[in-house]
Amino acid sequence: MTSHLKPQSGLELLQPYIPGTPIEDVQRQYGLRDVIKLASNENPWGPSPRAVEAIQRVLGQIHYYPDSQCHELTRALAAYLRVHPDQLIMGNGADGIITQLCMAYLDEGNEVVVSRSSFPIYDHFTHIMRARLIKTPLKDYGLDLEAMAAAINDNTRLVFVCNPNNPTGSMVTAAEVDAFMATVPGHVVVVMDEAYRELVVSDEFPETVSYVRQGRENVIILRTFSKVYGLAGIRLGYGIAMPSLLGPLNQVREAFAVNLLAQAAGIAALEDTAFLQRTVETNHTARLWLYEQFARLGLLYVQSQTNFVLVKVGPRAGQVQQELLKHGVIVRPCGGYDLCDFLRVTVGTPEQNATFVRELEGILRQMAVI
Ligand SMILES: Cc1ncc(COP(=O)(O)O)c(C=O)c1O
Repeated sequence: MTSHLKPQSGLELLQPYIPGTPIEDVQRQYGLRDVIKLASNENPWGPSPRAVEAIQRVLGQIHYYPDSQCHELTRALAAYLRVHPDQLIMGNGADGIITQLCMAYLDEGNEVVVSRSSFPIYDHFTHIMRARLIKTPLKDYGLDLEAMAAAINDNTRLVFVCNPNNPTGSMVTAAEVDAFMATVPGHVVVVMDEAYRELVVSDEFPETVSYVRQGRENVIILRTFSKVYGLAGIRLGYGIAMPSLLGPLNQVREAFAVNLLAQAAGIAALEDTAFLQRTVETNHTARLWLYEQFARLGLLYVQSQTNFVLVKVGPRAGQVQQELLKHGVIVRPCGGYDLCDFLRVTVGTPEQNATFVRELEGILRQMAVI
């Protein structure tokens, strides 16, 4: 039967976002009990225990609407980041803030500059707002900030700098970001997406919050509780920017973008510095171990500052990913990121990583890739 519904024109170009395959799907499809998911860059150690306790404490209050302004969480984050509460906005994940940015700043025909092989949600909301996407090439599997700067013109409204970049894991340095920021005109909002910031160990990473502390009006920094804090399922992210940039976001945002449980969890997770430190340290050690294994197998990989690694397994990467599923290991294929020969694997616990490497090695030998 033909439908008479009339969605927004242009939606036919849009594919729904494809998330990492859920564990239950793989269990059902292949009749497996033990399945490990290394596909969505979640925290393999689970959520911050203090966040879980905080959620349990407020469960009996969920008949109330949450605080629309997230006062307590905002105050806690402002103290932690050494910014004014007016310089913060909370969202239903960092994704929620990306949506707000696109709704608030894009008109039809405006341009948005992104890098190839970067986080696909930028493309998605740019298309929904009927703005034009301008993609610059990667340089050595990292963002080419000079190319991104060169792509800016009078029609540009947003530039998304994913740092470190998902899915390559590489970062741009403080010196590179400073040089880039010096060239960006005032009408362009620079979105510094730092979803993995807490996991970075390099001391060359830019301290971008200082742009906001110094009053720079056209930059917003995005962070999330989904990764290092282990709270992906409850959806909490935030943006740091001058009130003049945030005003339009507050105009378009959902009234209750952050639910009551997420607000309580966020405050508690921020205080759980021991959990944070343990996650960062174990991730770093495990990532180095993965590098060693990829080198042993003769596989090219990209040095990462995050909790995932991009590894090249060749033109049959899709088949390798499917075989891994049958063996109970979920990783991310990268065709959708223009990196068809690669897989992106989240750094898991040492046990999960060992299982992944064992299965990968067996499959690659069987397929005569190595
Ligand atoms: C670069 C980047 N930005 C934003 C997000 C979204 O984070 P959230 O879970 O807070 O919406 C992700 C999640 O994978 C990400 O990789």
